[in-house]
Amino acid sequence: MIIYSRNRRLRSNSTIRSLVQETYLTTNDLVMPLFVMEGKNKQEAISSMPGIFRRSVDLTVLECKELLSLGVKAINLYMKVAENLKDNTGKEAWNANGLMQTTIKAIKDAVPEMIIMPDIALDPYSEFGHDGIIENGKIHNDKTNDALAKMSLSLAEAGADILAPSDMMDGRVAAIRTVLEENNFTDVGILSYAAKYASSYYGPFRSALDSAPVENLDIPKDKKTYQMDFHNSREAIDEVLKDVAEGADIIMIKPGIAYLDIVAKVRQAIDLPIAVYNVSGEYAMLKAAAQNGWIDNDKAIIETLTCIKRAGADMIFSYASKEAAVLLNN
Ligand code: PBG
Repeated sequence: MIIYSRNRRLRSNSTIRSLVQETYLTTNDLVMPLFVMEGKNKQEAISSMPGIFRRSVDLTVLECKELLSLGVKAINLYMKVAENLKDNTGKEAWNANGLMQTTIKAIKDAVPEMIIMPDIALDPYSEFGHDGIIENGKIHNDKTNDALAKMSLSLAEAGADILAPSDMMDGRVAAIRTVLEENNFTDVGILSYAAKYASSYYGPFRSALDSAPVENLDIPKDKKTYQMDFHNSREAIDEVLKDVAEGADIIMIKPGIAYLDIVAKVRQAIDLPIAVYNVSGEYAMLKAAAQNGWIDNDKAIIETLTCIKRAGADMIFSYASKEAAVLLNN
């Protein structure tokens, strides 16, 4: 039988395969999330995220140096906030001497080349574990925007390069862009979590920061009134286009591996850079399977991150970024 077209021809050896390879993962694509806590020379393992730690500021600075030497040039930052500093307004988020502000300054002093992308959201600072201020049992959108603008200004003053609002309030990109313009922070970027879904894959992250929504009959016990419904995809395009119009520089889609259809769709819709978040639950699943010997850790990391890039990501936030950099360098 004559087969006129044989796809296997271009797979017959690794040299030919490399000639036709469409997607390349490099350390330029990687962003490493870091968890920071109070103290000195302290680090704590996060049990649901093997290999990931909460570190005091001094050790976070050392970690940044190591990341940079591996070619990872951007980090995003999350704070473990002491319970006594949490309230409904989240006001610790714009304390000029707060943990996030101190961390940003320390990193900028010691590793000025590192691009710092702090998370903009109230949940680590909220006594209720919500990304917004609660009034009459509801998340108050516009008051939350005012708080996020204050937090943004404070972090820009501390030296942040790119602000990463992950709260999903309506109009917050415009609120943040306005406060940055009014205060001459014209070069500070906004990476907006435009299509962020209410997902069960954030569990390990919330235990890492002790930031899960509290159980209380009077307030929503999940984040479904602000994060997106996973049944929807057209809505993601609407969210993205609004954030672009409000002045976002980079658009985030989150979570990653179960949402690559959204990434591909958004890639068709916009020309701005796209970031994808390979979230804590995705990392935990990979590590759990690898620890049991059910999948190959290193191959699964490179495959996962490459496929996220293939779907249309320009950069990837992943807890495996450091490990991936080591693998890519070898
Ligand atoms: C907080 C925030 C969350 C994540 C990033 N920023 C948790 C949430 O929305 O509840 C999740 C990250 C992860 O799971 O890796 N606004």
